[in-house]
Amino acid sequence: MDAAIVAASARGTLVYFNPAAADLLGLKEEQTGLTLSACLNPESALVQAVATALKDNVSITEHELLLHTAHGEVYVSLTASPIESPEAAALLEVRQIDQQRRIVNEERLQAQQQANRELIRNLAHEIKNPLGGIRGAAQLLSTELAEAHLKEYTQVIIEESQRLQGLLDRLLTPHRLPKLSELSIHEVLERVRSLMLAETPNGLSVKRDYDISLPSLIGDREQLIQAILNIVRNAVQAMAGVGEVVLRTRITRQATLNRKRFPLAIMVQIIDNGPGIPEALKETLFYPLVSGRPGGTGIGLHLAHTYISQHHGAIEFDSRPGYTCFTLMLPLNGWQANLASEKA
Ligand SMILES: Nc1ncnc2c1ncn2[C@@H]1O[C@H](COP(=O)(O)OP(=O)(O)OP(=O)(O)O)[C@@H](O)[C@H]1O
Ligand SMILES: [Mg+2]
Repeated sequence: MDAAIVAASARGTLVYFNPAAADLLGLKEEQTGLTLSACLNPESALVQAVATALKDNVSITEHELLLHTAHGEVYVSLTASPIESPEAAALLEVRQIDQQRRIVNEERLQAQQQANRELIRNLAHEIKNPLGGIRGAAQLLSTELAEAHLKEYTQVIIEESQRLQGLLDRLLTPHRLPKLSELSIHEVLERVRSLMLAETPNGLSVKRDYDISLPSLIGDREQLIQAILNIVRNAVQAMAGVGEVVLRTRITRQATLNRKRFPLAIMVQIIDNGPGIPEALKETLFYPLVSGRPGGTGIGLHLAHTYISQHHGAIEFDSRPGYTCFTLMLPLNGWQANLASEKA
């Protein structure tokens, strides 16, 4: 679906809107020249965002906003930015968030993910011990076997149990406590970039589109590297190593993440021009063991989601053939905000 675009003058009057805005916001041609608060509900976040963008000359972004429209209630994200043009002074962009993307941030899903994690964790623990026993016994057996060709069988047992062990270890990792430090998101991205370029022989281009004025962030460096690396690696694998990945960073004001408001957040986007995420996976993409790749374990995005949630952030995606974009939102004072709310 196209974004609804509305242009306003310095006095807050309606200058222009596109057909998507007419449809979503119910704007009509004859309203051109009226103030936005006369055309839309004056209390609405849309009107207020434009007013703030004009007054303070800053860009405002709101995520997961519930909007009442002629078509009923819809979730949207909006950006209001000041622009320099002879015709208009602010541009408002409103995007409807489809179910798939919004669901990622829903509390219900968070609770379900938590339950899934517990289940997997318990199951993984239960499997680990006997698995160690099986492997140990196969190793002993192989030293006792006189006939060399029989060792092939014990070797299969040993290798397969090692593979399972590796899978279980990955499933169990997200549970260590985060190690917090002050870090630059660009350092994290640069590390991911060089790891990825080293892993992929040639044909891969990883472009940077950084906002270098971004402030530093409190977070767990290793977890952030791992989360972003998993997303970038998926992109590279989906493109079979040939294509372009863009790493983008931006600042976002007034971000609502998991129903908490943060005055400032860092937005990181990982964009690729590969085949896109298979439709059948979209609904459950962040669930563990969901994979569309031969040899994939389906843990990469589950881990990324877990790590970003631990940073009080959000992760969502938009994907069609030729364009896949994962957006991470990391609140700048997420840890402080959380400590404060725990005390309250
Ligand atoms: N950028 C992308 N383009 C196309 N498909 C993607 C992209 N990112 C993820 N996918 C699809 O989502 C699936 C799940 O990804 P995830 O990282 O969770 O698991 P995996 O890559 O299959 O296995 P693992 O990461 O555990 O080795 C992938 O198998 C792939 O089919
Ligand atoms: Mg993966």
